[in-house]
Amino acid sequence: MIKIQANKPQLVTLNRLNWTKHKLYYDSGANKFINIHNYIRQEIDRILKLITAKNFKRAHYLFLMLHDLLDMHHKVEEKNLFPYLEKLKLLEESKGLGKDHEIMNETLSTLANQFKDSKKDGYESLQSELLDTFTTFKINMYKHLQDEEDITIPVIILGGFRFSCCTNESKVTCCFY
Ligand SMILES: [Fe+2]
Repeated sequence: MIKIQANKPQLVTLNRLNWTKHKLYYDSGANKFINIHNYIRQEIDRILKLITAKNFKRAHYLFLMLHDLLDMHHKVEEKNLFPYLEKLKLLEESKGLGKDHEIMNETLSTLANQFKDSKKDGYESLQSELLDTFTTFKINMYKHLQDEEDITIPVIILGGFRFSCCTNESKVTCCFY
């Protein structure tokens, strides 16, 4: 494993446009971190389209899967990534991302309740409320994912803090190592 060299000036110099060109982009698992974030973005877009088309049953089903995935993803980041960022003196960054998670987890609970409640009457009663909450969730989540990548990808590539993801049947498991 590469010795930790990451510090703030280095992290800033490794900007988004140069990530995929870096020789360790694939070996470090940085690509997998981006892939899982892109998957989250795609699922958010798919669910929003289904809500907009009033296809609530399918939206609810995909939302439950996304909720599970985000629970797991957030826990792995909180347990492994954020303490590692703190070790690198990226305390402010770690706290900011942690606060985002709290907000996101709250919104996910609200959405879960809205879906569950509206299921009882055939998903009729909370249509506009659901659309509003999910649209706000998308905006916040997209910003969070981008911020998290800007902070984490240089740490994975330069800091020797590797990432991996694998799928086991329908479950995705991720880890930092
Ligand atoms: Fe996160």
